[in-house]
Amino acid sequence: MANFETVEIKTDVLICGGGMAACGAAVEAAYWAKKNGLKVTLVDKAAMDRSGAVAMGLSAINQYVGLKDGQNTLKDYCNYVRNDLMGVTREDLVTNIARHVDSSVHLMEKWGLPIWTDADGKYVHEGRWQLMINGESYKVLVAEAAKNALGMENIHERVFLVEPIIENGKAVGAVGFSTRENKFYVFKCKTMLVCMGGAVHVFRPRSIGEGLGRSWYPPFNSGASTYFTLKAGAEMTCQEVRFIPVRFKDAYGPVGAWFLLFKSRATNALDENYMQTRRDELEKWKPYGLVKPVPANLRNWLMMLDVMEGKGPILMRTEEAIEKLSQEAPDEKSRKKKLKELESEAWEDFLDMTISQAILWAATNTAPEEKPSEIAACEPYFIGSHSGASGAWVSGPEDIAPPEYFWGYSHMTTVKGMFAAGDASGASSHKFSSGSLTEGRICGKAMVKYAVENTDEPTIDNAKVEALKKAILAPLDMFEEHKGYTVDPDVNPNYIRPKQFMFRLQKIMDEYAGGVTAQFTTSKKNLDKGLELLDFLREDSEKIAAENLHELTRAWENIHRMWQAESHIRTILFREETRWPGYYFRSDFPSMKDDWLVFANCIWHPESGEWEMVKRDIKYISV
Ligand code: ADX
Repeated sequence: MANFETVEIKTDVLICGGGMAACGAAVEAAYWAKKNGLKVTLVDKAAMDRSGAVAMGLSAINQYVGLKDGQNTLKDYCNYVRNDLMGVTREDLVTNIARHVDSSVHLMEKWGLPIWTDADGKYVHEGRWQLMINGESYKVLVAEAAKNALGMENIHERVFLVEPIIENGKAVGAVGFSTRENKFYVFKCKTMLVCMGGAVHVFRPRSIGEGLGRSWYPPFNSGASTYFTLKAGAEMTCQEVRFIPVRFKDAYGPVGAWFLLFKSRATNALDENYMQTRRDELEKWKPYGLVKPVPANLRNWLMMLDVMEGKGPILMRTEEAIEKLSQEAPDEKSRKKKLKELESEAWEDFLDMTISQAILWAATNTAPEEKPSEIAACEPYFIGSHSGASGAWVSGPEDIAPPEYFWGYSHMTTVKGMFAAGDASGASSHKFSSGSLTEGRICGKAMVKYAVENTDEPTIDNAKVEALKKAILAPLDMFEEHKGYTVDPDVNPNYIRPKQFMFRLQKIMDEYAGGVTAQFTTSKKNLDKGLELLDFLREDSEKIAAENLHELTRAWENIHRMWQAESHIRTILFREETRWPGYYFRSDFPSMKDDWLVFANCIWHPESGEWEMVKRDIKYISV
């Protein structure tokens, strides 16, 4: 085995991740830590400038409440989120983020983010809650603020965290390895923030071959947050609430600007608008089916019904929307000018955040003002910050959380000292990038408070660290030992490579847990079969092999994904109803049931290795 140096780093506050939530946490924790003489350390598996879900940039900030301008109230935002999630949401968490989010947006503007303004200097809204930005470098400048706050000496980039360390029920550290050097890292801390994103590539993507890494959500977000919180024994919530976005087909371009800013229609091959022709279907999903805007999953559902009846392809009518908007101009000259502006806004929308969609337009001779583009439902993702809800069950804030939802520190999980933010915390959907940064800030402050009040030095058993080091690096030995056995290193009876492992996981999830090829439909029989096959996959995870450090990263990413997959299947199985058609449909329980208006939570118990499923009441708060 190659010699791996062990590097030990002791800190007070450990931020695991480098995305939007992590940057928010870094900025806030650095401020409070300085006042209290504490150390804050951040670990990112990539380079912060371009890591996490916002790596490629964004064309809009999707959460801005506009409280000061009196545009909206916190209650308005809560209503929006509750309805969009078919009633299943933690209003205390949503409110806590919503009441601080505007200040985060103003902070980002101060850091240099260009937000569109109109002739009166007011923000240009994409929709009620969304602001248009020139966001290609969004993550770069947010990362810069975090770096300035912490100092590069406290930031460890390209260190992949594999496993949390829990001693006496408290989070005391994490271990991982450098993705570039033979170094094994041990971080010891008083408190830790889990903010390592959601998960993609748990389900088989629509893309194949060379396009495999093309997905809506970044392929490098691979379930570490779920893994860390689950393995720590934290209670999880909404693990069944996946997100299925509708996107421009094949390059996954966003639809928000088209539906909201350009007010485009989507039609089927017969030129019918499913939002109108299928309106009656919404009655079945009352009261949420009748709210405005129609919840994201139900919008998907109406489209899927058309597709299942063979009425595809579904088209975003870009040409029609641009024509209509340009007609608003008072004369021909200004109409032509407006047309040019709309064209460039259309291209910028993709160039700011999904460059490959612009490339696909170019490659297919698509001028959006001339012809429509196909849209389609994507494979499922786990993303608690967008219109999904999966993540850890965290404490609400003291002033507004119902007693059942409060246990001491804002946004701390049920494991002492372990906090969660962004995609890592559940039941607080629609925080998006700005809300994730905000939740990170909330955690950063709460963690410093925790570290001030809980001063025990972290003790970690050396034997435990040695055993973890051996297990984490084992895939490298596995490859070295057996690689000569076959001519093709991908096919070897002694081991399984990470990519093959991922394909197997994706196939199980796709076929049995309601992926694309199963038309997002599943049932108890299918889910049971999926669990049985996951058992075999878990057995084989001990035979995973890695040729080098990059493949070692892939190996552990896929093991993280496997845990996300299992908690998902178990929770879908537990919830005996269909609550989010358009995200998934249970053929054996095809309707929504009043007695399932509850949270479906799960806990994996580290001592016994057993799973426990629990229902938790939904307590709406009035603000
Ligand atoms: S993005 O993350 O890729 O930008 P998306 O394109 O889905 O997201 O949408 C951006 C925002 O607009 C989100 O807040 C989403 O919920 C909202 N949105 C998208 N389409 C619609 C629609 N047809 N009606 C109402 N809201 C929508």
